[in-house]
Amino acid sequence: MVFMITCLIGFMLFKASPRSGIVKLVQLNNGHYIPAIGLGTWTMDDKEAREAIKMAVKIGYRHVDTAWRYHNEKGVGQALKDLILDKVIARNDIFITTKVWNTFHGRELAVQAIKESLANLGLDYLDLALIHWPTGFKAGTDDIYPRKSDGSIMPSDFSLIDTWKGMEDLFRQGLAKSIGVSNFNIKQLQRVLNEASIKPSVNQFETHPFLAQQELVDFCHNNSIAVIAYSPLRQADKELLNNPVLKNIALKYNKTVAQVALRWQIDRNVIIIAKSSRKERQMENINIFDFKLEDQEIKQITALNQNNRLIDIPGIQNHPEYPFDN
Ligand SMILES: NC(=O)c1ccc[n+]([C@@H]2O[C@H](COP(=O)([O-])OP(=O)(O)OC[C@H]3O[C@@H](n4cnc5c(N)ncnc54)[C@H](OP(=O)(O)O)[C@@H]3O)[C@@H](O)[C@H]2O)c1
Ligand SMILES: *[C@@H]1O[C@H](CO)[C@@H](O)[C@H](O)[C@H]1NC(C)=O
Ligand SMILES: *[C@@H]1O[C@H](CO)[C@@H](O)[C@H](O)[C@H]1NC(C)=O
Repeated sequence: MVFMITCLIGFMLFKASPRSGIVKLVQLNNGHYIPAIGLGTWTMDDKEAREAIKMAVKIGYRHVDTAWRYHNEKGVGQALKDLILDKVIARNDIFITTKVWNTFHGRELAVQAIKESLANLGLDYLDLALIHWPTGFKAGTDDIYPRKSDGSIMPSDFSLIDTWKGMEDLFRQGLAKSIGVSNFNIKQLQRVLNEASIKPSVNQFETHPFLAQQELVDFCHNNSIAVIAYSPLRQADKELLNNPVLKNIALKYNKTVAQVALRWQIDRNVIIIAKSSRKERQMENINIFDFKLEDQEIKQITALNQNNRLIDIPGIQNHPEYPFDN
C-alpha cells in the first residue's frame, strides 16, 4: 500500500495505512485498519461539519464519525468533496462511519437507510456502518422518536437479528467495508455473535474515566470486537477536566487533562472519537501519540469509575432491548 508521511506544525500527518507514523491504527477483525482517533460530529450542522472536517483533515485526522440522526451527512460529504477536489486526500485515505437510525431497524430498512446515508454523503461506500442503538423504534410514522401518549417509545416490529442480517446484506453488497453496532450490552452482543454469519467488527459506546465500562471493553476485546469510545471527554464535563488524579498525571507528562483522558483509552486499546469544532482543541486531542501512561496510572484512572452515564434516550427505559442496567 502506498503511504505518505508529511510534517506539519511539529507532528506527523499520516495516510491511513498500517505503516503510518504517529497516529496509531487499530486492525479490525476483518483485516481493515481504523485510525485510533476520529473526529466526532454530534451537534454540528452541515455548515459547521464541513468547516470542522476540513480543518481536522488538514491537521491530520483521517477518521470521521457521523450518523443519519445527526442531520449533517451532507455537510460531511461536502467537506470530503472539497478535500478530494483540492487533492488534500483521496477517498481511500479517510475512514468514514455512519449509523442506521432506530426507525430503520429490520433487514430491508437497514440497507435502505445506509443507501440514503451514502447518497447524503456523496459516497459509494462507507468504511464502517453501525446499528446506532439496539432499541429499534416503530418505522414509517414520520417521527424519528415515535412515542405513545405516556412518553414511552414504540418499539420496532423487527428483532435485533433481523437488523443485523440487513447489516450483513449491505456489507456483502459492498456498501460498507466493515459493520458493527453501537450502545449494545454484553448479552446483546452475545446474541448477535451466536447468530451472525459476519461478526460485528466494532461496538461504539459511551466511555470515559467516570464510566470505565471495563467489563464491556474486555468482553469486546475477548471476542475480537474493537471498541470505539464516544463522549470520551464526557462532553467537556468540568468535574472530569478538573479531576485531581487526572491533573496530577497531566502535570507529569506536560499534557492537558483532556489529553490524559484520551490517552488512557489508547493505552487500553480503545479507539476514541472526540468532537471539537475548534482547531486548537482538535490539535490538542490528536496530539497524544508521543507519550504513554504507565500501568499504575492506567489503573488509577480506571479506578475513577463512577458508572456515571451521560447519554440515554428518554422513553426507551421500558423498551425490550434497553441496553443499560446501571
Ligand atoms: N453512538 C452513539 O450513540 C453516540 C452518542 C454520542 C456521541 N457519539 C459520537 O461521539 C462523538 C464524541 O462524543 P461527544 O460529542 O458526545 O462528546 P466529547 O467528544 O466527549 O466532547 C465534546 C465537547 O467537548 C469540547 N471539547 C473537545 N475537545 C476539548 C478539549 N480538548 N478541552 C475542552 N473541551 C473540549 C467540545 O467543544 P468544542 O467543539 O467547542 O471544542 C464539545 O463541547 C460525537 O460527536 C459523536 O460523533 C455517538
Ligand atoms: C476476558 O478474557 C479473560 C481471559 O480469558 C477472562 O479472564 C475474562 O473473564 C474475560 N472477560 C470477559 C468480560 O469476557
Ligand atoms: C509543555 O507543553 C507545551 C504545550 O505543548 C509546550 O509549549 C512546552 O514547551 C512544554 N514544556 C516542556 C517543559 O516540555
